[in-house]
Amino acid sequence: MLTTDADQPARDRFSGPDGGDRGGPGARVFVGRQPELDALEAALAAARAGEPQVIVVQGEAGIGKSSLVLEFLVRQRGLPAIVASGEQAEAAMPFGVVQQLSAEVAAASPGAAAAPDLLVGDPCPDADPLAVGGEVRALISGLQRRQAAAVVVVEDLQWADLPSAQALLFACRRLGGDRVMMVFTARRGAAAELSEGWARFIGSDRRASVLTLGGLAPGELRLLCGRLGRTALSARTLGQLADHTGGNPLLARALLEELTDEELTAQGDFLRAPRSLASLILPRLATLSRPARDLVIAASVLGDSAPLADAAQLAGTAKPVAALEKAERAGLLLGRENPGRPGDRVPAAADPPGHLR
Ligand SMILES: Nc1ncnc2c1ncn2[C@@H]1O[C@H](COP(=O)(O)OP(=O)(O)OP(=O)(O)O)[C@@H](O)[C@H]1O
Ligand SMILES: [Mg+2]
Repeated sequence: MLTTDADQPARDRFSGPDGGDRGGPGARVFVGRQPELDALEAALAAARAGEPQVIVVQGEAGIGKSSLVLEFLVRQRGLPAIVASGEQAEAAMPFGVVQQLSAEVAAASPGAAAAPDLLVGDPCPDADPLAVGGEVRALISGLQRRQAAAVVVVEDLQWADLPSAQALLFACRRLGGDRVMMVFTARRGAAAELSEGWARFIGSDRRASVLTLGGLAPGELRLLCGRLGRTALSARTLGQLADHTGGNPLLARALLEELTDEELTAQGDFLRAPRSLASLILPRLATLSRPARDLVIAASVLGDSAPLADAAQLAGTAKPVAALEKAERAGLLLGRENPGRPGDRVPAAADPPGHLR
């Protein structure tokens, strides 16, 4: 989607979690993230000065990546922005994300920069990602012509089809002097895992920066509760909510929606997982083999940074690496290198995040 003037602010058409910023009782509530908003604004200022910027906003599921980008766009009224997103079910569709970008540009500026030759019509699965990348770069550069700067957002890069990810990397690497800001959202570590090229680019290219989102601070969580009308929660209950959710706003808001003040207080230190998330996780858990399922359960008991060996012992899993890989494929665990023990991996809750009890 492209906003060409202040009449159609990007915020109204952003595919973010809560839709637009329409005011009224169902209004979007956003708290905190000032350093990240400042970083995005600084990147925009650099882009406006002709230093193209590529920002990867990463973090676990529900931590607030989309919300942050939406808030940034809301604050930049009139800034042209096009938005595309990776989708798990479409990850095998070659150039699906690039096609989306191309269609968004065409829809928003009919008659302007035509869709690149390679992208006209149906997706061409055999096209060379680098050639398509060259066209994507031209498409992106064309956005800035009539405006001072443009923003291109690609949501959920971890689910982008590989040819699109390659083409986008190629395009990013060739931005030079463009008044363009590219913003990618991705699950923790996913951008670097796309390919060595992506890892190198975000690790060392002067145009690239990574914003890693952690949980909301306890004070921000208190503010969030207040903004949601939950002003009577005690400091103790707020502390338990912060501990239990790790400041993950998706988890916190799900619990706040499901439980009254009294119910939250009564649960004390043993807050349960939100039912809305449990109903997403349990069917996925049921599809796993027994060893993989037991490993997920053991990891959820031990917490986010338990070594794989400990989780495997608790689960009685003889082949923990295979079980971890199955759980990773189901999006239930995320293996990370154990900083304390090189070579060992740490299973952490992946999607949705947080500890299951
Ligand atoms: N800063 C914030 N203030 C208030 N609510 C927030 C904030 N960040 C996120 N939320 C809420 O948390 C929920 C999850 O946020 P969001 O969809 O932005 O997460 P995400 O990181 O993009 O997740 P995913 O990886 O699944 O795309 C939403 O309901 C959103 O409104
Ligand atoms: Mg998101």
